[in-house]
Amino acid sequence: MKLKLIPTVLLILSVTSTADDYVRPQPRKTLHLPWHSKPSSYPQQVHISLAGDKHMRVTWITDDKSAPSVVEYGTLPGKYDNVAEGETTSYSYIFYSSGKIHHTVIGPLEPNSVYFYRCGGLGPEFELKTPPAQFPISFAVVGDLGQTGWTKSTLDHIDQCKYDVNLIPGDLSYADYIQHRWDTFGRLVQPLASSRPWMVTQGNHEVEHIPLLKDGFISYNSRWKMPFEESGSSSNLYYSFEVAGAHIIMLGSYDDYDVYSEQYKWLKTDLSKVDRKRTPWLLVIFHVPWYNSNTAHQGEGGDMMETMEPLLYAASVDLVFAGHVHAYERSKRVYNGKLDPCGAVHITIGDGGNKEGLAHKYIDPQPKWSEFREASFGHGELKIVNSTHAFWSWHRNDDDEPVKSDDIWITSLVNSGCVAQKKTELEHALMTP
Ligand SMILES: *[C@@H]1O[C@H](CO)[C@@H](O)[C@H](O)[C@H]1NC(C)=O
Repeated sequence: MKLKLIPTVLLILSVTSTADDYVRPQPRKTLHLPWHSKPSSYPQQVHISLAGDKHMRVTWITDDKSAPSVVEYGTLPGKYDNVAEGETTSYSYIFYSSGKIHHTVIGPLEPNSVYFYRCGGLGPEFELKTPPAQFPISFAVVGDLGQTGWTKSTLDHIDQCKYDVNLIPGDLSYADYIQHRWDTFGRLVQPLASSRPWMVTQGNHEVEHIPLLKDGFISYNSRWKMPFEESGSSSNLYYSFEVAGAHIIMLGSYDDYDVYSEQYKWLKTDLSKVDRKRTPWLLVIFHVPWYNSNTAHQGEGGDMMETMEPLLYAASVDLVFAGHVHAYERSKRVYNGKLDPCGAVHITIGDGGNKEGLAHKYIDPQPKWSEFREASFGHGELKIVNSTHAFWSWHRNDDDEPVKSDDIWITSLVNSGCVAQKKTELEHALMTP
């Protein structure tokens, strides 16, 4: 090699020294090498969420800021009889600038039906199934997902179960200020989140607040728009929705919740709209658990519990799901720290599989209200069979196999006498300013 190079070098030297009349060409434009092999208007990170009665919000991102926000959809593959146009947003965060984030609401849609759709007029066809209008209905429940190998196996197991709606009590991407990790999370969950509605509330990893520089929840609110307007809320951080015979309230552990707060006022208004004949099941979901016998995050939910638990109790809430603690725990019916047949069952399910690992240490002895606790990654399934019975199961990720580790029939409070017994109590609580 060396021997061959020498004549070349000599040649170049002799050319440069003699070619005085050589005109150097102008610099050329930088090559445009797209980050992805796909066109910049190609839809990415597609996910869907319930958006009021019979409607679904389709969310996706394009690198191209001029890509249209249209969703074409229909009940047959490749044949789109309907088209809807939506709104867009984008945000910047220090050196990061997001793509164009499209939110397009489609509907009215038939319940329990398959629809085929396409985003922005190009790219692959997606397939979604709307939830049923009546029982039975199945929910997947998973918190603190992140994007690790464990997240992947949890998602695979959720994919295998036949669920209608996924409920997520906070901590999605674990982007932790590194904004492109929100994009990788969006791509990771797309296969599931584009086919069944994902209903989320915020956790501490969604806050991403930088004092004096960036408000909280910029990325979360831009990317995971939930039906807050549809449910009379003024913030994406708390909202409610109804599906089949369940009224589901998503609360914000990281927004104000004191009795003077907007959230508290909204909660009272929302509870006043609940009709247990229409929705016999009442579920509440937020991030920081109120009943937690793990040493991790011990007592953190105390303030919110003190303010809001009496309201939920007066309203005879059936089930409360929380995340935050990276383990699984299920309570008996409990109120104010004591066993109570009219209290809610509290389930902590912050074990989706994030990078921070499991929370192994528990308080001993196990409190009376705590019925089952285990520090393993996994997910839950709630099948509401009818107005009074639901089957709950928790599935541990054992060497990539989903193994049912805890299950129980839960009966709703609707026919228990609790709802009737607390009618005046609830009316009084909702009327008090
Ligand atoms: C509800 O489902 C449970 C469990 O399958 C069953 O035992 C019960 O009879 C059902 N109730 C009604 C009203 O159908």
